Amino acid sequence: MSSHHSEPVLDRRGFVRLTASTGLLGAAGLSMLTSCSDHTMTGMDHAPMGGAKPGGTPTRNPLRIPPTVNVGPSELTLTAAPGSADLGGGRISTALEYNGEFPGPTIRASSGDRATISLVNGLSEETITHWHGMLVDDVNDGHPRFAIGPGGTYRYAFTVNQRAALNWYHPHPHMLTGKQVALGLAGAFIVNDAEEASLGLPAGALEVPLIIRDTRLDRAGNMQYTPKSGGFLGSVPLVNGTRDPQLLVGKAVYRFRVLNGANARIFGLALANGASFILIGNDGGLLEQPVPISRIDLSPGERLDLLVDFRSLGLNQTVMLRDARAGWDLLEFKGTGVATGGSIPTGSLSTITPLGPEVRTRSFSFDGMSKINGREYDINRTDFQVPFGDVEKWVFSTNGNAPHPVHVHGASFQVVGRTGGRGTIYPWEAGWKDTVLLEDGETVTVKVRFDASRGLYLMHCHKLEHEDMGMMANFKVV
Ligand code: C2O
Ligand code: CU
Repeated sequence: MSSHHSEPVLDRRGFVRLTASTGLLGAAGLSMLTSCSDHTMTGMDHAPMGGAKPGGTPTRNPLRIPPTVNVGPSELTLTAAPGSADLGGGRISTALEYNGEFPGPTIRASSGDRATISLVNGLSEETITHWHGMLVDDVNDGHPRFAIGPGGTYRYAFTVNQRAALNWYHPHPHMLTGKQVALGLAGAFIVNDAEEASLGLPAGALEVPLIIRDTRLDRAGNMQYTPKSGGFLGSVPLVNGTRDPQLLVGKAVYRFRVLNGANARIFGLALANGASFILIGNDGGLLEQPVPISRIDLSPGERLDLLVDFRSLGLNQTVMLRDARAGWDLLEFKGTGVATGGSIPTGSLSTITPLGPEVRTRSFSFDGMSKINGREYDINRTDFQVPFGDVEKWVFSTNGNAPHPVHVHGASFQVVGRTGGRGTIYPWEAGWKDTVLLEDGETVTVKVRFDASRGLYLMHCHKLEHEDMGMMANFKVV
């Protein structure tokens, strides 16, 4: 093993500490050093242990639906603390949880609502919560400099002022994000608005959040975090914290609010019967038109708004949602035969106004596993300043070690180009995004305009091990 692989890992306090926390310092440390990219993982890591196995079909467990809480006149409290979770069929795991839930409660707000949320730190280490995709001022954005210690409270207060979208919340403490997310801290944050309401999309039991991620279980069945500098890859898929899940569906059109909540894994979503999803939205809300599509590659932090037509699914017929990359079965849909109807919208969903000509261009190279433009993250350094309200072109490239899902706080952006590599912009990259996948050999260009708030924000790789090792930058909107 070459020393340039080990140094960035061992130099970072987060990794040393995280490894120690698994109680397997020797083994985990060794695997970090010997496996520095996704391509050097062992066969075990790719084995489809979570889905159908040769010679047997797993017992399916009811898909967990996290409880919903609405922001409103009264303050919400989110307590991050150790707890336990039934991953399905009574298989109990330890977890880190918001309000005792894994995933955390689904927070719902309407555009214009005032959100007052208190984060209480019941962990034994610092934490802070970031509302990924929410356009809030910087004291509410969960920057790591606002992390609170054990027993501390952070009070958030902001007005929800953005399009309807599926956003999400997760910890963002310095060098501890990967661990806390992997061990369970994450939840959906859904914003609704009048434009969305006018479309009459499937709602209630027909609108289902799907937080898709992977995990790794120890011998006792507890989720463990065994970070690798190339990104943590688990061996078991979870949807909403459920192993081998099943959702009973009527003869109806369903709306799935999909989040890739994994630390590092990309999912290649497809239906086993070859049917298309109807893609209607992504990170920043609705697209202009519905797009039928049979395969979507979703990287960590990215979201999808999908309609699936089960109107012809008969009683006890099943359809599997699969991850075509790992060959995993993710979620089985099983028909109840009960007709509840619904329809697929055919007209326009929304209007996306393209950002105008850029005032300036900035380039960002995602270097190694821990740097942007040659620098590791420094919580106390402002790397660049962006004038409020200007349209800028940001050009993302990498010298290797991708995938790098590039995420920007403080604004949504529009993807305007991808050259090299896959060389195309995919339908799920239209409209407004806050996270875009950068693969090796690719240059991805976006246009962005920070017109929500001034202040200090972050840009980083959303492969959380890269983020924790320093592939992150502070910038100030001035
Ligand atoms: Cu989802 Cu800066 O993070
Ligand atoms: Cu990365």
